[in-house]
Amino acid sequence: MTMIKGGIIVTSSGTFTGDIRIKEGKIFKIGRNLSAGEEKVIDAEGRYVLPGGVDVHTHMDLDVGIARAVDDFYTGTVAAACGGTTTIVDHMAFGPKGCPLGHQVEEYHRLADGKAVVDYGFHGVMQHIDENTFSEMEELFQEGITSFKGYLTYDYKLDDAQIYELMRKMKELGGMPAFHAENHDVITFLRKQFVEQGKTQPMYHAKSRPAEMEAEAVARLLKIAHYAGDAPVYIVHLSTESGLQEIREARARGQKNIYVETCPQYLVFDESMYLREDALKYIMSPPLRKETDEKALWEGLARDEIQVVGTDHCPFHYAVEKQKGKDDFTACPNGAPGVEERMRVLYSEGVAKERISLSQFVKVTAENPAKAYGLYPKKGVIQPGADADLILFNPMETEVLTKKNMRSAVDYTLYEGMQVQGRIEKVLLRGNVIVEENEFIGEKGQGEFLVRGKSR
Ligand code: URP
Ligand code: ZN
Ligand code: ZN
Repeated sequence: MTMIKGGIIVTSSGTFTGDIRIKEGKIFKIGRNLSAGEEKVIDAEGRYVLPGGVDVHTHMDLDVGIARAVDDFYTGTVAAACGGTTTIVDHMAFGPKGCPLGHQVEEYHRLADGKAVVDYGFHGVMQHIDENTFSEMEELFQEGITSFKGYLTYDYKLDDAQIYELMRKMKELGGMPAFHAENHDVITFLRKQFVEQGKTQPMYHAKSRPAEMEAEAVARLLKIAHYAGDAPVYIVHLSTESGLQEIREARARGQKNIYVETCPQYLVFDESMYLREDALKYIMSPPLRKETDEKALWEGLARDEIQVVGTDHCPFHYAVEKQKGKDDFTACPNGAPGVEERMRVLYSEGVAKERISLSQFVKVTAENPAKAYGLYPKKGVIQPGADADLILFNPMETEVLTKKNMRSAVDYTLYEGMQVQGRIEKVLLRGNVIVEENEFIGEKGQGEFLVRGKSR
């Protein structure tokens, strides 16, 4: 047994000073002045005790054809752990054309088993629909894959009828469909036009994916979801004020079951990063936007209009894979690291700068993602019966984020040199200390596959 003594326990409804007794990997009891028995005591005085982070948008070992993300399930989850994230739900790569839904699930079990050091689940990926797709989906649902992602852009994009079918099926099963919302045709046209005009610098990555084309796709998804009987719809990596405005309007019309995620990079950086010498580091889809978008996204978080902050962690080496785009942005693999930085950046830029409350921080980094993807109350919350996934966080200290101190296999961080308020001192996974002062002290393969339930 372990006791966390005298910490400031943070939940989505407030904070209180108390003790947490952990038994067999779970939170057994929470109270004031619990008497210590035969147990290991961790002194948490003056520290926040936060629920371990739940990052529901990572891409470990992602094969994008022109490159492969450089974090596998070992290095990527060590990075997650050191950054205070104890659960990930990974978005898998597309499989071969026409493959059954289970093809990629099997592949991902192979990639993660024996490697992951935090608990993990997988979102299924929908890349076509045939006569077997929905019965395969029902089988996968029984195996704990209760969410499926559809892309509105890229090679295996879904058409509107497929989106409608996916939403209806997820509504019937109690699952969650997640969508990458960008208008494919206009973006494809603009990319081709820019290349033909010799406009191949990184800034044209942003110009080829205009904000309106995110807003259009968001609006289309919302209308289809409404027509499907207010079917659940989860929009990943929202980056624009105009997309958020569509969501506000749909909710104002009374539409229910809309879930929205953004990522730290869209809260912290704007498109001027594409003018820097190292602009390729910031090539991701959707692209970085304008300062007005950043501001709107912070407001969206503060007003509970955005439920989740994920990362879209999808790292490629700046010195290697990213250089494919040095003469032409369209040849650059899209994506950037973030799983190690998310909790620290959001606390520092959000809570310490008083843009969001501590309770909101806990909601968007742990509780809401766990609820949306069928992991609650096992994950995402500090209460008896939940897994003892905890962070001891010292809010009084500062640190400077730098690649030198990071565990991801990638060769850069987007946040190099950023001073952040707060420091992660310890991370516990199911009651075991797995990170101590930025050192990973757990074991390769200790992460468990999470059989997820229905969404809440
Ligand atoms: O640029 C990005 N975001 N790459 C990862 C795949 C995706 O669209 O989420
Ligand atoms: Zn995406
Ligand atoms: Zn992604």
